[in-house]
Amino acid sequence: TLPDSVTIYEVGPRDGLQNESSVVPAEVKAEFVRRLAGAGLGTIETTSFVDPRWVPQLADAEEVLGLLDEQGRGAQRPVLVPNERGLDRALAAGVGAVAVFGSATETFARKNLNRSVEESLAMFAPVVERARAEGLWVRGYVSMCFGDPWEGPVPVEQVVEVCRRLMDLGCDQLSLGDTIGVGTVGHVHRLLAGLDAVGITVDRVGVHFHDTYGQALSNTLAALREGVTVVDAAAGGLGGCPYAKSATGNLATEDLVWALDGAGVHTGVDLDALVATSAWMAGHLGRPSPSRVVRALTGA
Ligand code: HMG
Ligand code: MG
Repeated sequence: TLPDSVTIYEVGPRDGLQNESSVVPAEVKAEFVRRLAGAGLGTIETTSFVDPRWVPQLADAEEVLGLLDEQGRGAQRPVLVPNERGLDRALAAGVGAVAVFGSATETFARKNLNRSVEESLAMFAPVVERARAEGLWVRGYVSMCFGDPWEGPVPVEQVVEVCRRLMDLGCDQLSLGDTIGVGTVGHVHRLLAGLDAVGITVDRVGVHFHDTYGQALSNTLAALREGVTVVDAAAGGLGGCPYAKSATGNLATEDLVWALDGAGVHTGVDLDALVATSAWMAGHLGRPSPSRVVRALTGA
């Protein structure tokens, strides 16, 4: 059975816009966050405090947060921070929540963070410790939980080990990233069981599926049936990681809301307002939304 209600963790402004070739003006990004909130999304990841040379699309993180009100920087508006330099910037901008982002594989850790898995955990340790001491909520992402474009399938034990290490650092929540969208439902079950076996229960876990192989919604529903209640999604199906070969968009928030509305699962999201937001954003990006639900409901 499905849970009565699901928390959608909206990643459009961050995962969505980090991969766009056109640079979106800060005011448009801030308006995107405001419109998403207006459509009923409670949790919205707004931007990243990473090295701007690595992700120029989000180099305006300070500016975007400066355009948002206090709630727009609060505990429901996490930002990505890879290191203490990023945390310093995020704290100066007044954020209430941060996310570190590790990798289950060595190759992707190197490509995305210029570190080994071990070195990246060492980089995150003081970030999580200081963030918690400042009273911030902390999420830990793990990328390549299902497969890696360079290493192929990733063993469950290897993923569980990185998850355990991140939780031991003091993260409040994990997000299991299928960065390149290769996961399938049986694999979701095996990973959640593997985590449960080391004491990481579904109430501490969110799922983050990319829709490269069209499996994102099925995988999400499989996770919900196992008791997960936090789901990452990006409005309009934007997204992808510039450092992961073949990564495409996230699960579209509209596709998720359509399915959950139909199943009577509460999300608090107004689908029409959300679709209008994605259509507006598609106008700024100059390309139609890849979401099937957005296309169906806008006649695009
Ligand atoms: P590095 O080059 O090893 O960094 O990069 P460093 O520590 O050696 O520092 C080099 C220079 O960068 C220094 O400046 C630092 O000050 C500066 P210099 O002294 O040379 O002038 N620097 C910074 N500047 C601003 N903000 C910072 C910062 N850090 C260093 N935070 C680093 C290491 C981690 C910084 C780099 O690799 C990086 O920024 N990576 C981010 C990559 C990224 O954002 N990827 C996308 C997000 S992950 C994702 O999308 C997956 C996810 O969606 C889940 C899934 O789908 O799987 C989350
Ligand atoms: Mg992602």
